[in-house]
Amino acid sequence: MVIRTFFDEATFTASHVVHDPASRLAAIIDPVLDYDPSSGRTSHGSADAVVDHIRNNDLTVDWLLETHAHADHLTAAPYLQEKVGGKIAIGHLITTVQGVFAKLFNTGDDFRHDGSQFDRLFEDGDQFNIGSVPVIALHVPGHTPADLAYVVGDSVFVGDTLFMPDYGTARCDFPGGDAQALYQSVRRILSLPDHTRLFMCHDYMAEGRDYYAWESTVAEEREHNIHVHQGVTEKEFVAMRTTRDRTLDMPRLILPSVQVNMRAGFFPEAEDNGTRYLKIPLDVL
Ligand SMILES: [Fe+2]
Repeated sequence: MVIRTFFDEATFTASHVVHDPASRLAAIIDPVLDYDPSSGRTSHGSADAVVDHIRNNDLTVDWLLETHAHADHLTAAPYLQEKVGGKIAIGHLITTVQGVFAKLFNTGDDFRHDGSQFDRLFEDGDQFNIGSVPVIALHVPGHTPADLAYVVGDSVFVGDTLFMPDYGTARCDFPGGDAQALYQSVRRILSLPDHTRLFMCHDYMAEGRDYYAWESTVAEEREHNIHVHQGVTEKEFVAMRTTRDRTLDMPRLILPSVQVNMRAGFFPEAEDNGTRYLKIPLDVL
């Protein structure tokens, strides 16, 4: 299994491409669509780097995997699907997330919150393959109710559960977030064998480090994770997480990200002038 990571410094997102060298089948995990909030312009620099990687290595994309509906970047899954193919998948409880945000954005009848925008919805324990490499979907709620981690061979793509040991864990204060659930999800990931490789969805370059990093192991996280190392109790974690979350600003791109990502990355229908719009709810978040 070959893993290539693309890091987007604008949103601190690590997108991963996994492929099976035997069959040359691939999965793209959490791809980024570039978005400039001042102009409302989308662009494809990050996604095109992934397309180049796919083409240069003669890969066939089987899956476009989302770990969750991201609140800090827009997904490029539909753009990549058009360029290189693949089925767009996410956790089945995305329907819960869609329900919450359909209400927040008052989307009306044109947005169905039944997950139908995605090609596949995974439940906990669902298995599939990337060529000859087995994949298991793990439901790891907490950051959102629908988060998945993907166990791919000896590696886990943990999404927004854990970060690098020196940065800790993901926030739990978005609608449907739950610090207690995140603690349980992290413990589940950290019960895998010591040598299991963990790939993060984000890195914010913790203080004292001068490079981005997105790979650790179960043993490293268990020993050194500043929020959830071995010995931290659920109660301690929930108290820390809740206190810390109260100090955090909303992510810069939460409003555009959620509106696009809840639609699997597709944009809302164009209005009668041919333009697509996103909404900004005032004084709600
Ligand atoms: Fe996230």
